[in-house]
Formats: sequence, structure tokens, C-alpha cells
Amino acid sequence: MKVLCIGDIMGEPGRRAVARAVPRLVAQRQVDVVIGNGENVAGGFGITPELAEELFDMGLAVITTGNHAWDKKEALDYFSRQPRLLRPANYPAGVPGNGSVVVESAGGERLAVLQLMGRAYMPTIDCPFQTAKREVARLKRETLAVIVDMHAEATSEKMAMGHYLDGDVTAVVGTHTHVQTADEQILPKGTAYITDIGMTGPLHSVIGVKKELAIEKFLTAMPRRFEVASGPSVFCAVLVELDARLGKAIAMDRIRILD
Ligand SMILES: [Fe+2]
Ligand SMILES: [Fe+2]
Repeated sequence: MKVLCIGDIMGEPGRRAVARAVPRLVAQRQVDVVIGNGENVAGGFGITPELAEELFDMGLAVITTGNHAWDKKEALDYFSRQPRLLRPANYPAGVPGNGSVVVESAGGERLAVLQLMGRAYMPTIDCPFQTAKREVARLKRETLAVIVDMHAEATSEKMAMGHYLDGDVTAVVGTHTHVQTADEQILPKGTAYITDIGMTGPLHSVIGVKKELAIEKFLTAMPRRFEVASGPSVFCAVLVELDARLGKAIAMDRIRILD
């Protein structure tokens, strides 16, 4: 099975880049399942039901989110109604939505996707490590193919999660920083890992935001309303090849397309 994992999709430029790249990659690389992080699709902040449906229509089977999951209030109900839209599993009990889902490829193979969020320089929520062990054990009763989206700021926290789950899950892929890291690897016990997949959105920007606005905020330390940048875009993803029966990763390819 081949799973394409797309990094944080930022605003309209990100959605356009997905629309362009996904059909091509699915055909050329025989992709079975596409997943992507949609926490920034709605003008950089959050996701709406309409935009989630748009991403599903573009071929995404599962949408993960993160700290921006709750930015659009119209999505709150939708999180509870749409099982393929995830929020981090380590939010406290009672928060709307789900942190994991099991989907099936066209070939009938099952894939579990689990979303976690780190706590270093992030909202303080339940322990992602303890949640991971509990959730992975539960998901593995349904399928051994498990991909974890670890949404976190600190590279160390993401690496720790990769090694903590090494041999237990198929892949741990990082999101949130919007900058792709060049450290894709198969860890010693067989789990594929990358610290951050990177952003899919406007290239000439500060992590997707109009650069002038971000610079002004750094210069003045005053609140600034951020807007998504325009211009050429970058598409960032990884392609995970795996043995779905054993849940083992075979390869991880890093993808970065400029257009
Ligand atoms: Fe993001
Ligand atoms: Fe984030």
C-alpha cells in the first residue's frame, strides 16, 4: 500500500496546489490512500465543513488538524459528524470529534490514522505519549497499518514520539512547523519517520503568511491580523510505502514540488 501524506495545507494557494499535485501523484506513483493536514485551509485559520468536503472531493481520505482545529466555530459540529476529519486524540475527554479513524483503500486494505499534538510551546493538553500507547493498542486490533500525524512545534518532541512508537506503528509524520525537514528515515525497529512534512501553500511567505505582515509583527511586537500570502506555491508531502498486512514501512519518499 502507498499512502501520500500532505503537510499543512494553507489557504486557497494550498488548496490549489493539492488540486494540481494529487491527481498527478496518484496516477504516477500508484497512491492508494491520500491523507493531509487541513488545520490552515480556511484562510490560514481552521477548517470549515465546505472546505473539508472540497478536500475529500480532491481525493483525501482523512484530514488531520491540530492547534487550529477550533478556529472556525461552524466546524465544531462537523468534527462530531465527520469521522474522517480528525483532531488531536490527546485533547481532554468531552472535546468534539475523534483523534483516530480506520479507512479502507480501494484494494480493501485497512489503514488507521492517529493524530496527536505535542505540548512543548503548544496548548497544554493530555500527554501525547500515554495517549499514543493506548490508542495504538486499540487501533492495532483493527489493522497493523497505523500512520501517526504528530502535530508539534519542538523537533525533539516529534523525534521522541518517533522513537517511542518505533516498531509499534507504520509511520510517524510531523506537521505544524510548515517547514519541511530533510530527515526522512526508517527508524531501527521499522517505523518510517519525518520530523515535519512541510507546508503546502504560498512559497514566498513566512510559514504561509504574507511576509510583510509577519515582519511587521516581529518589528513592533504588536498584534497584527495575518493574511495568507499569494504567488507561486509549494506542495510538500511524503509517500509512505508499506506492507499493510504486517504494518511495516518499506520506504518513505519526501516530496516537494514548486510551481
Ligand atoms: Fe499549520
Ligand atoms: Fe498547527
